[in-house]
Amino acid sequence: MPKHSFDGESFTRMRPPEGKNRRGRAAVGEHKLDQLYPEYAERVERTRTSREPEPEPAGDRWSTWDKSAAGERGPRPYPDWLVTDLAAVDTELGILKTGKEADVFLVERSVPGTGRATLMAAKRYRDSEHRMFHRDAGYLEGRRVKESRVNRAVAKRTAFGMQAIAGQWASAEFAALSRLWSAGAAVPYPIQILGTELLMEFIGAPDGTAAPRLAQLRPSPAGLEDLWAQLGHTLSLMAMDGFTHGDLSAYNVLVHEGELFLIDVPQIVDVVGNPRGRSFLDRDVRNIGAWFVAHGLTGDRVGKLAADLCSDAGLR
Ligand SMILES: Nc1ncnc2c1ncn2[C@@H]1O[C@H](COP(=O)(O)OP(=O)(O)OP(=O)(O)O)[C@@H](O)[C@H]1O
Ligand SMILES: [Mg+2]
Repeated sequence: MPKHSFDGESFTRMRPPEGKNRRGRAAVGEHKLDQLYPEYAERVERTRTSREPEPEPAGDRWSTWDKSAAGERGPRPYPDWLVTDLAAVDTELGILKTGKEADVFLVERSVPGTGRATLMAAKRYRDSEHRMFHRDAGYLEGRRVKESRVNRAVAKRTAFGMQAIAGQWASAEFAALSRLWSAGAAVPYPIQILGTELLMEFIGAPDGTAAPRLAQLRPSPAGLEDLWAQLGHTLSLMAMDGFTHGDLSAYNVLVHEGELFLIDVPQIVDVVGNPRGRSFLDRDVRNIGAWFVAHGLTGDRVGKLAADLCSDAGLR
């Protein structure tokens, strides 16, 4: 580094002791300089670092793992496949699905030169006007956001408000996945949340082929029984924790090599705290039950599951 270049540290060293100028006299207006100093130091630092640009990562971006705060990362213990290295890069491999409220992308997080890599599903909630707000009205109502500026922007549907709504949906889904995962339910592991992007475990094959939705399957009678048992088990774990999915259907269930996973959970419903909790639970079981009945399950078992779940949740 050249001898006379400025950096934050040398500026500090050149500054006289508190409240004095270089000759030791009380300095006029010194307090003003003190206030300006952090901004100055930051500017100098910016100039310095911009002269030494970081080399471009091999992927599309550096791993964003360290950008998410502790509470914005998935529950511990971390699964062993998770890549947490700071040297990791994220490479976008393509789009899995454009949905009504979000687009889901396939992203690989890998550590160059090590062979360590994992596939992730990146669900990016839309903040554009193309988003459909069908779930916003009921859900956001009664949900107080501290900053009133955010409330006003949300109410007015300004660009900033739309961004805030997208962020709230992403956080709601991250929190729901974390809760359900910790309760033992079959959901993708929530890796991290960053703004409007939720990164989660990719459910599918190592070559990037996503698992089919339940709606696309034609299972054998034995396969159907097995899926019904898995569904009952996961819904029961959720009910014991006090929740139902809230938007359950054969489109929000993925099946990877016979293993069932519930997805799309931002709207999970607290069945005890919500006055309509029981009817949400009934609706979920009816909706998913209809698919099972269409593929051979007897109708009485759907009613039985709903009753069992109510008792798991402690509802009369
Ligand atoms: N973790 C995942 N692993 C693999 N594929 C996923 C994952 N999460 C989502 N997908 C794919 O993306 C699709 C949309 O996801 P999701 O249902 O969460 O979003 P959405 O915006 O509600 O979409 P839709 O309007 O289609 O319901 C899923 O049907 C599935 O095909
Ligand atoms: Mg969905």
